[in-house]
Amino acid sequence: MQEIYNAIQTAAIKIDYAIKHEDKGYSQSQNATGDTQLQLDIHCDKIIEEIFSPITSIKELASEEKEAPHPLHEKGRYLIGYDPLDGSSLADVNLSVGSIFGIYENNYSGNNLKAAVYVVYGPRVEMVTADESGVKMFRLEPDNTFAFVKEITLNEKGKLNAPGGTQKNWSPLHKELVESFFADGYRLRYSGGMVPDLHQILLKGGGIFSYPGTSDVPQGKLRMTFEVFPFAYVYEQAGGEAIDGKQRLLDLIPSHIHDTTPCFFGSKEEIKKVRSSYANN
Ligand code: AHG
Repeated sequence: MQEIYNAIQTAAIKIDYAIKHEDKGYSQSQNATGDTQLQLDIHCDKIIEEIFSPITSIKELASEEKEAPHPLHEKGRYLIGYDPLDGSSLADVNLSVGSIFGIYENNYSGNNLKAAVYVVYGPRVEMVTADESGVKMFRLEPDNTFAFVKEITLNEKGKLNAPGGTQKNWSPLHKELVESFFADGYRLRYSGGMVPDLHQILLKGGGIFSYPGTSDVPQGKLRMTFEVFPFAYVYEQAGGEAIDGKQRLLDLIPSHIHDTTPCFFGSKEEIKKVRSSYANN
């Protein structure tokens, strides 16, 4: 596993450079979910593929930017599901973006995750790893090494509310839930990038991030394999919870690697509230 973490660090340094200095324009192609790919998405995907390719413990790669999984080493133990540059359009407005990695065994179901990693490219470059030893944060130093900063644990209850999706398409039940958090004193923190938004909640001790099913996208927007499962794993390891409204996210089994799901990540108190609201849905 350490070899994979080291490879992610190497990729992160190159991706950070690409974000800061390379072409930000659109390409002619679309990814499997129909989003027009930015040159940057394609380049970051290539950086990761190149760095992962020689690692013999990796059997296969599945990228949000690729239609189908890409086989690597037949005898490898791990399958890696990753989003090379989540929220890439935010780079154009100089907001933080991130890379997300889920390290699976056997198949891409939530319960087969062995570790999850994300990298935030912001004013600082930070990497967070989650595995059975807990959730640890590292920061890129001027000598291009990642220094351990601290372990991350969530409080039972937080103060931040990050509600995703188009509000006019929220169900009345969801609208009521979001408003009830604000009525309890929660503050709005939503940048439109799930990596920095979820990172902020983790570092500030807790809160709630939601991306519900809406009238236009009943299964939500965020992809299980590349985005939702890795963060569900991080939140659980940090002492929080992650559900689709009713069910634990990591118990879901996608039928296709690009499947999406409604999702809620938070500390325990907030998720209790989501569960009781959505119980009647
Ligand atoms: P993309 O992968 O197309 O860059 O989208 C980013 C994701 C995620 O990072 C964020 O939480 C969500 O889309 C924001 O979507 P809304 O603007 O619909 O809230």
